[in-house]
Amino acid sequence: MAPIGQTKRILITGGSGFIGSSLLRYLCKSACNKILNIDCLTYASSPDSLNEVSNQENYQHRQYDIRNLSEITSAIYEFEPDLVLHLAAETHVDRSIDSGGDFISTNIVGTYNMLEASLILYRKLSTERKNKFRFHHISTDEVYGSLGRTGYFTEESPYDPSSPYSASKASSDHLVRAWNRTYGLPTLVTNCSNNYGPFQFPEKLIPLVILNALERQPLPIYGAGDNVRDWLFVDDHVEAIWSVATQGAPGSTYNIGGNQEFTNLEVVQTICDILDSIKPHGDGSYSDLIEFVSDRPGHDKRYAIDASKIKREIGWQPKIDFQTGILKTIEWYLANEWWWRPIRENDYDGKRLGEDKSV
Ligand code: NAD
Ligand code: TYD
Repeated sequence: MAPIGQTKRILITGGSGFIGSSLLRYLCKSACNKILNIDCLTYASSPDSLNEVSNQENYQHRQYDIRNLSEITSAIYEFEPDLVLHLAAETHVDRSIDSGGDFISTNIVGTYNMLEASLILYRKLSTERKNKFRFHHISTDEVYGSLGRTGYFTEESPYDPSSPYSASKASSDHLVRAWNRTYGLPTLVTNCSNNYGPFQFPEKLIPLVILNALERQPLPIYGAGDNVRDWLFVDDHVEAIWSVATQGAPGSTYNIGGNQEFTNLEVVQTICDILDSIKPHGDGSYSDLIEFVSDRPGHDKRYAIDASKIKREIGWQPKIDFQTGILKTIEWYLANEWWWRPIRENDYDGKRLGEDKSV
């Protein structure tokens, strides 16, 4: 684990989701971290992801909604965190295309509430604790919009979001920086590329394709499958978040990426190749299930991160390449049907979301 510094009391929002639960499993290893997880448990959460930590003495959960300012204010005021790690959000682009309301209220208004409540606490802290306090907002590279075949997103790239999801995250990033410049709240923003790994809700490309393949369902590829994403194993993201939270300069933004760019078709083909070799089904290749479907409206062509600032200033770089991480991920889903089976049966069965309804 990266150096703990003086941080003891950590408030995390969205800790019952994919990245948040991975972060919590990491943070709870250190007994001197006292952790409060605020998560209202939407469809995307999975309390089972926290089985490893939920009975630990240094961990508590409150089922609060960040859209409720008074609930959030009293939670923050009572807990008195040194560090707020703000991850709670609506996160699926396709759902944001179908209906943007929750994205606006949680990602924008919810972030405003977190900032307001944090500022109330911050103002009453002693100078010593003020110096220690950080509000770290976890965001996405999608705020920068789409790249062509060349180039990378840097921290100076202009914001140009395409989807209701990325527009709502862009708005929240602007609010966070405004609370730093206007009120002096010591904020940090990180913009990260696509994550993958264990415990990811099976609506995102990688877990969806793994589970559809295991159930011999079609593997839907939007458009021609030539859109490019930069993939980062979730454990690497967790270490990056902790490094920035403990070493980042207040008021700063850091891009985080895996330097592992692949087209969607390459990603899906890799999953099929691995499944063919570790779980052959005796009736051809899993890639026979690939189906090209209509494109996502506003589909960003390429994301790619220039992560040189975080490497230069903080010393973080990813450790896990895509071949290693995707094998670990597939093996995890194969071994943990107890986790995903109820989700597939009760919450989301893998059917298409975010289709263009105008055609
Ligand atoms: P997720 O969808 O898996 O989990 C989100 C969590 O937030 C859930 O546990 C949910 O219950 C909680 N939540 C949602 N609305 C809430 C509300 N109103 N009040 C309280 N809790 C609420 O998300 P994730 O993939 O773990 O992403 C976490 C954060 O990281 C998000 O802010 C996302 O924008 C950012 N991010 C994600 C990725 C990625 O590839 N997954 C990449 C870059 C940045
Ligand atoms: P996704 O996992 O939804 O992440 P994001 O949209 O935040 O990048 O999608 C990753 C890529 O995979 C994106 O280009 C859309 C594409 N995609 C498919 O081709 N088929 C699918 O079923 C899904 C969910 C995504």
